Amino acid sequence: MPRFSVVAIRLALLYFLLGISVGALLLVNKAVPLHPALWALLPLHIEFLLIGWIVQLVFAVAYWIFPRYLNQPKRGRPALAWAALICLNASLLMLAIPALAGWGLLARGLQAAAALLLAACLWGRARPTLTGVARAAQQNPTQEE
Ligand code: HEM
Repeated sequence: MPRFSVVAIRLALLYFLLGISVGALLLVNKAVPLHPALWALLPLHIEFLLIGWIVQLVFAVAYWIFPRYLNQPKRGRPALAWAALICLNASLLMLAIPALAGWGLLARGLQAAAALLLAACLWGRARPTLTGVARAAQQNPTQEE
């Protein structure tokens, strides 16, 4: 598995843990009211699980598993994927840190940028793969299939 996917999966698992912990706290608060202010954590629960966990896991697996180019760099330009990961995690930090509460719009912009950067990295790889006989025929065009 490429380094990018290892890092992204580990980050996704971290957000999964944070997200379900907040969810569990909200659930307990529903059954046994602890403090009404805890409901303010609901947007964080949603952000961590939908963006931090699910979207980040999709980034990791897509970069790893999309068809690779035959020549180097086989996974396209990794710098684009790393930039996407940085934008995504910066946006999550902005939304999670109360002192940065006013930066919500910038955080959404970073999420859009992350999606575009990953799409730019994967665009050329979204194509039919050459496997088995077809690849052998391409590498040895004189031989009969
Ligand atoms: C991938 C997993 C999850 C995702 C994507 C997710 C997403 C969401 C979303 C979108 C809402 C808002 C629903 C609404 O406002 O109508 C929500 C609410 C909530 N979630 Fe989760 N959630 C997940 C897992 C969990 C887990 C594991 C727990 C508990 C341990 C949990 C506890 C809650 C609670 C207590 C609420 C508030 C429900 C209410 O408004 O009464 N969630 N979640």
